Amino acid sequence: MKKRANFNSKLGIVLASAGSAVGLGNVWRFPTEVGTGGGAAFILVYVLCVVVLGLPLMVSEFIIGRHTHKNTADAYRQLAPRSGWILQGYLGVFTAWFILCYYGVVAGWTMKYLVEALVGGLGNITDSAAYFTSFSGAVWEPLIYMLVVMLMCHIVIYRGVQAGIERSSKLMMPMLLLIIAMLVVFSFSMPGSREGLRFLLYPDFSKLTSSVVLSAMGQAFFSLSLAMGCLCTYASYFTDDAKLIKTAGSVALIDTIVAIMSGFIIFPAVFSVEAVAPDAGPGLVFITLPHVFKIAFGGLPLLGWFFSVMFYLLLLLAALTSMFSLHEPPTAFLIEHFNISRRSATAVVTLVCVAVGVLCSLSFGVLADFKGLFGLTFFDFFDFVSAKIFLPVGGIIISIFVGWRLDREIIVAQLTNHGSLRVPSWLISAFVFLLRWIIPLAVGGIFIKELGLIG
Ligand code: TRP
Repeated sequence: MKKRANFNSKLGIVLASAGSAVGLGNVWRFPTEVGTGGGAAFILVYVLCVVVLGLPLMVSEFIIGRHTHKNTADAYRQLAPRSGWILQGYLGVFTAWFILCYYGVVAGWTMKYLVEALVGGLGNITDSAAYFTSFSGAVWEPLIYMLVVMLMCHIVIYRGVQAGIERSSKLMMPMLLLIIAMLVVFSFSMPGSREGLRFLLYPDFSKLTSSVVLSAMGQAFFSLSLAMGCLCTYASYFTDDAKLIKTAGSVALIDTIVAIMSGFIIFPAVFSVEAVAPDAGPGLVFITLPHVFKIAFGGLPLLGWFFSVMFYLLLLLAALTSMFSLHEPPTAFLIEHFNISRRSATAVVTLVCVAVGVLCSLSFGVLADFKGLFGLTFFDFFDFVSAKIFLPVGGIIISIFVGWRLDREIIVAQLTNHGSLRVPSWLISAFVFLLRWIIPLAVGGIFIKELGLIG
């Protein structure tokens, strides 16, 4: 049998996993949620969710992946042969595939905005909302941009774990962190930025309703790439000396810092322009920000150009490294399960994503009136099913599986690297306790809330 690939270095492991976690969820979705959820109060709850719920789940996925060294579907088959748990493995593979289909569309938009920013086109937009609607509703342009980002992702995955994923993460993640730091400094120097800072730093607990708490939880899972196959698949490429708890801690820390920094970039900028609401919703980065860039840098075009180019480059880098992690689980599954080459497996995954992605993209234009999937458009359907149904279900199953079903010896062996690391036993007990009781209950809460949305 061919030797299975693995990541080459500990830094590569952390950066690839952080690349998966840091994505549109941090730069696009997080500030939106903070805006609607009461600023600092939301952030406090969010951080709590990351530590109490996110970390144990991430460590669980690492344990499953590294113990089995298999793709997600076969990992569950090995750990629990001939049982219903195997379905979780398949669910993970399909969830990744589903998310990638529509994630690629949004990633395509970021590329379009990067190109427009580069050629100076963003500065000429008079009505940024109309501009966005007409761009995303067109037929060819968004499709072509989606195709380009899908192709970039395809090439990286085709090149494999070390030469593709690890190498590009080692290049792209430091770039991304540098851009973030630069933009934060920029944003702070804008007039009126204090207003934005106050919004982010002073908690408004009156806005903290139960539904905001549940959104914070959902956001934490999405942002950490949890509850399906991504991190489990990456962990199957971890080396034996990687420290699982430490790695999970670093990934969660980087992810949270990037999310909060994104807030620090966006809100001071937004507050420095009058008549732009901080709770503008999902249009924030594609509608509000171009408008902000334009007004804020009206007298300083060069600065505006630089700021906007850097911002959309950041968004694109973040989206791409997450796309790698969504592409790899189905690819690894096809390779190992059906014994086909990486080349064919990558092609199948990309082709399916492009085909479905076309439908998702068109659902902002010619297919906007097609609401045949439970009353949702294609884009909304894929988003809804994966993020609101598959993710919470996956989270519950994984925590119950590792908490109740997996042998304690396997957990201890993975956490201590077969006895060579010292991990206090209370920590392991706390970990198992959270998985057994707290996480299934908390995630069950999110799930019931989301289902309530259907009914
Ligand atoms: N975490 C990524 C983001 O913040 C998106 C992502 C990648 C993801 N893989 C995932 C979300 C798996 C949920 C599950 O944008």
